[in-house]
Amino acid sequence: MGSQPYLLAARSIVKSFGPTNVLKGVDLSLARGEVHAFLGGNGAGKSTLIKIISGQLDRDGGVLEFGGQTLEGSVAAHVDAGEIAVVNQELALLPHLSVAENIALPRLRRAGHKYSERASEAIAIEALSLIDPRFARESVARMVGDLTLHERQLVEIARALGSGAKLLLLDEPTANLTASETGRLFAVIRRLVADAGLAVLFVSHRMREIRQIADVCTVIRDGKTAIDRVALCAITDGEIVECMGQSIAHEEAAALRDRGSPRVKGRRDTMAADGDTIRIKRDDIDLTVQPGAIVGLAGAPTGPMALIEALTGLSDASSWKVERNGAPMAYASSAAAARAGVGFVSGDRANKGILGALPIIDNLMAARRIVERRGCVSRSEPEEGARVVDALDIKAASLWDLPSTLSGGTQQKLLVARWLALQPRLLVLEEPTRGVDIRTKHEIYALIRKMAAQGTAVIWWSTEYVELVELCDTVLAFDLDGHPTRVLCNAQVTETQLADATGMAA
Ligand SMILES: Nc1ncnc2c1ncn2[C@@H]1O[C@H](COP(=O)(O)OP(=O)(O)OP(=O)(O)O)[C@@H](O)[C@H]1O
Ligand SMILES: [Mg+2]
Repeated sequence: MGSQPYLLAARSIVKSFGPTNVLKGVDLSLARGEVHAFLGGNGAGKSTLIKIISGQLDRDGGVLEFGGQTLEGSVAAHVDAGEIAVVNQELALLPHLSVAENIALPRLRRAGHKYSERASEAIAIEALSLIDPRFARESVARMVGDLTLHERQLVEIARALGSGAKLLLLDEPTANLTASETGRLFAVIRRLVADAGLAVLFVSHRMREIRQIADVCTVIRDGKTAIDRVALCAITDGEIVECMGQSIAHEEAAALRDRGSPRVKGRRDTMAADGDTIRIKRDDIDLTVQPGAIVGLAGAPTGPMALIEALTGLSDASSWKVERNGAPMAYASSAAAARAGVGFVSGDRANKGILGALPIIDNLMAARRIVERRGCVSRSEPEEGARVVDALDIKAASLWDLPSTLSGGTQQKLLVARWLALQPRLLVLEEPTRGVDIRTKHEIYALIRKMAAQGTAVIWWSTEYVELVELCDTVLAFDLDGHPTRVLCNAQVTETQLADATGMAA
């Protein structure tokens, strides 16, 4: 791109949190009218740089230029003026305000207009309609605190898309979206880039998605820029993954290990005799989950989430009938379910997973302590914690720090890690690899397969079809209204059939 001035240029950006040097001189430049993938493993510093560019964090050193001007000190003025819009990885909506207020208030304030309910709703409907007109009409008057994680993600994205900004920073915006919503988001991004010359910085751990939407990429590793503005057509996934420090050798090692494991598609039901049999019934669906099976749930969130509530004892007013070894499954609380051998990783890690006020070690050991009815740190815990941290490459300065000091993907690893050492009879997972980097995803797949081989029945909801194809020999598909449509088995578990059965294009 030679001498063309960039819309944004960040040079030698440095940032530490206490003794942890996170950014040690990162360069990143973005031109108008481009979608730029910003890549790196969990904890590499992507969100930190995005917060610096969007004025949420101050940098310790380095130069930031925006629109050809050097920015002295904070960039907050440009964010306030609406030139830079951001979708943070951990959503930042106000739960006690309505959807309309969350979307419209910043814009009304910027324009110097007085608040009116009618104006707010009109602004919000226009912004939300970019992604989903039906959701727009149904949701404007609702309180954000009453929305599901998935719905909150849509609101957050709409707020940024509808803001008229020149630079859009999207920190894993698709992590909570279904395949068809991601498709619609990409269509809007392409339109804004082509029509308005918008520049987009896009973070995701899903390589396929990155190739669908982005033109160029920058990769950071160990706090430095490892690849600076390389066209995606000029680099392979393998090269990118290697630059992120998640070497192919490791990937291959993981794949080899999997092949060596006793998992053979379609044969698992005869394998693990010692375990629980789960039966799931509703309408004309009657599915038996054998010990050691990995069953996938596919489709928009409503359907899988309702079944998961029934499976984890969180709802007894369900239209599902769920039996475990022939008896109805019902638990008085999540703790009772855990003690009965039902493990659960919620998809809403901020509200239903991470214990924000307790250190990392307590978060890691929470499930074990509930199961063993134990309240305090036992002597073996630090050692066990260190083992899990090592297996999943959890980047933490100390196990006694709070989870808020961890990157988004690292917090997700923490939630999954809770159950890995426990061998529950049934493990229910809602999007367990959300925001997790490529290397660790494969590590999690291998660990889940190992648990299944030892008799755990696994039920796994994912919006990523590739993941279901990779892992499951049976998938229960739901339509957009949450009704179960089909049970796909073995060779039927393909991306095309999943897209067909869920009514959502991949
Ligand atoms: N407030 C904080 N205090 C201490 N350390 C922090 C804080 N915020 C982030 N870090 C550390 O900075 C590093 C970079 O975190 P960051 O969230 O930028 O990573 P990321 O690249 O966005 O990762 P992910 O892909 O998991 O989202 C991590 O090691 C994290 O533990
Ligand atoms: Mg992040």
